[in-house]
Amino acid sequence: MAKAKFQKVTKAIIPAAGLGTRFLPATKAMPKEMLTVVAKPIIQYAVEEAYAAGIREFIFITGRGKAVMENHFDHPYELADTLRKKGKLAELKLVESVLPADAKVYYTRQGQPLGLGHAVGCAAGITQEEPFAVLLPDDIIDTSQGNPLKEMLAIYNETGKSVVMAEEVAPDRTNQYGILDLGGTGIKNNRARVKTFVEKPEPKKAPSNLAIVGRYVLTGRHMAQLAKTKPGRGGEIQLTDAMIEVCKKEGFTGYLHNGLRFDCGDKVGFQMANLYFALQDPYIAGRLQPFLHQMAERHDRRQALREDEIKRRKTKSKK
Ligand code: UTP
Repeated sequence: MAKAKFQKVTKAIIPAAGLGTRFLPATKAMPKEMLTVVAKPIIQYAVEEAYAAGIREFIFITGRGKAVMENHFDHPYELADTLRKKGKLAELKLVESVLPADAKVYYTRQGQPLGLGHAVGCAAGITQEEPFAVLLPDDIIDTSQGNPLKEMLAIYNETGKSVVMAEEVAPDRTNQYGILDLGGTGIKNNRARVKTFVEKPEPKKAPSNLAIVGRYVLTGRHMAQLAKTKPGRGGEIQLTDAMIEVCKKEGFTGYLHNGLRFDCGDKVGFQMANLYFALQDPYIAGRLQPFLHQMAERHDRRQALREDEIKRRKTKSKK
């Protein structure tokens, strides 16, 4: 068998130490990453995606109040035993498949939420000089349409360069993302050569509307770079700042994702993900779909009544 040209990526970092302020009060005592989308915690979707892409070592960056996450990925002897004794084998399978037997887990704590770059840097002692993947658990991908991390690992294995997932965003939303500057080159086979990145540019100054979203394959050099990176925008250590420096030395590939992605760090994206994945389950869909139609009709009726009322008031004030 031909020897791989570049060091294999075996580890994925999953940062989960953020405060989740957009979900307060739910996240007062419960980590955002443990909120459920249908019957699975958000974070489990990222683990399943990475496992399916070939990752076998998972590094969770956790913080205060996140112990429940460690329990979720632990082997639950008592629960498994009870389910077995009760003959609840389907449930037992669900519990045991949370973390496949050949997966290895590391936990490391980020003392203070000092930004995504800082969170990733907390894993430096585990990844050492190795390349690694990063998955932001907030972003849930519908992998039934393809596994982007698998594609990104294939690109890394071919080029030896870091790869970042990108998506086209509305031009007026560039100031919410790290944006790719392709320096005038185009996208071919969903791949683009990145010249540099610009962190949250105002729409007028944005070099493109291709935004960095949730998945990265990064070369080992990033850890040393992160250690040197000073706090940037918002006083946080930005992962994008370290990527800009590594890009100057090694180059970077952008992977354009066209499938469905749900931003579960945001209340709207979270509700959409719940509805989408619930509708994939025939049992739930059978009861949920008629309810959704009913709600939509009721909403339309209310809207029509509101519009009628506005028209009525306007004609009255003209008289
Ligand atoms: P977000 O930018 O969504 O921040 O983090 P947040 O704190 O979780 O949420 P809000 O904005 O207050 O509602 C994206 C991912 O990076 C992790 C988060 O846990 C989340 O998975 N993160 C962020 C860290 O691990 N540490 C940090 O310092 C910041």
